Amino acid sequence: MTESTLDVSSLRLEREFVHDVYDNIADHFSRTRYKPWPRVERFVDSLSIGSLLLDVGCGNGKYMTIRKTNELAVIGCDRSQSLLQICRQKQLESVVSDCLNLSSFRPQFDAILCVAVLHHLSTEERRRKAIQQIIDCLSIGGKALITVWAFEQNKNGSQSHYIRKESQKEPQIHSKTGLCLHVGGTAFTDQEVLVPFANKTHLRYYHVFREGELEGLVSGIKSAELEEVFYESGNHGIVLTKTRFIQ
Ligand SMILES: C[S@@+](CC[C@H](N)C(=O)[O-])C[C@H]1O[C@@H](n2cnc3c(N)ncnc32)[C@H](O)[C@@H]1O
Repeated sequence: MTESTLDVSSLRLEREFVHDVYDNIADHFSRTRYKPWPRVERFVDSLSIGSLLLDVGCGNGKYMTIRKTNELAVIGCDRSQSLLQICRQKQLESVVSDCLNLSSFRPQFDAILCVAVLHHLSTEERRRKAIQQIIDCLSIGGKALITVWAFEQNKNGSQSHYIRKESQKEPQIHSKTGLCLHVGGTAFTDQEVLVPFANKTHLRYYHVFREGELEGLVSGIKSAELEEVFYESGNHGIVLTKTRFIQ
C-alpha cells in the first residue's frame, strides 16, 4: 500500500469509527464523563495562576473546569461538533480543530492536556505527528500531559477497574474492517480494536498502547524532553517539557 492510500484508509477509518461515532454519542458520552482522573487533576492543579491551558480533544470539557473560574485561561479543541456544542452550553471557550493540525494556535501555551485522544489515531505516523503538533503549541518551559488507553489492563499485580469479565477465547473479527471486535470489560487480545459503546450499536476504533510505546513516539523529537512516564488505572501517560523552538 502506498503512503497516500494508507492515509486515505486511515482517514476513512477514523471518520467512520471515531469522528462520526463521537458526534452520534455525544450526549450519552458526556453523561458518562464527569469524574476527572487523579493524575490529570494534579497536573492542572499544579499550574500557576494565570497560566494558559489548551485541552486537545477536550470532549465535553470536563478538564476545563477543574480550577476556579479566572484562575487559568483555558481553551479546548476537538473534532466533534456535538461535543463542542456541549462545551459551549457550559460557556467554555472551545474551537473545532483536529489534533493533527493545531497550526491555528500560536506557540504560547504554558500547559497542554491531551487525554484519551491519541489512541484514536490509526497509524504511528499520525500519532507521532499529533505529539509534534502539541509540542509546537507550547511556550518554552511549557508542559504537556498526554494519556492513552493501555493494552496492559493488569499491571504490577493490580487489575484496572475496566476488567469485569473473562476474555473471550476466540475474538471475533469485524468483517468490514478486518479489525478485532473487542468485548467490553475484558482484557485486550489485539492492539487494533473496535470497542462497542454502551448499547453496542456504536463501535469506536482504538489503538491500545503497549508499555513503552507512548514515550517511544517522543524519541527523536528535539524540541521537548520527557519529564515523567506514568501508568494510572489502565492508561499510559507522559509529561513533556518544551525545551526549544525548532523551525
Ligand atoms: C475518549 S474522548 C476523551 C475526551 C476528553 N479528553 C476526556 O478525557 O474526557 C476522545 C476525544 O477525542 C476527540 N478526537 C478524536 N480524534 C480527534 C482528532 N483527530 N482531533 C481532535 N479530537 C479528536 C473525540 O471527539 C473525543 O472528544
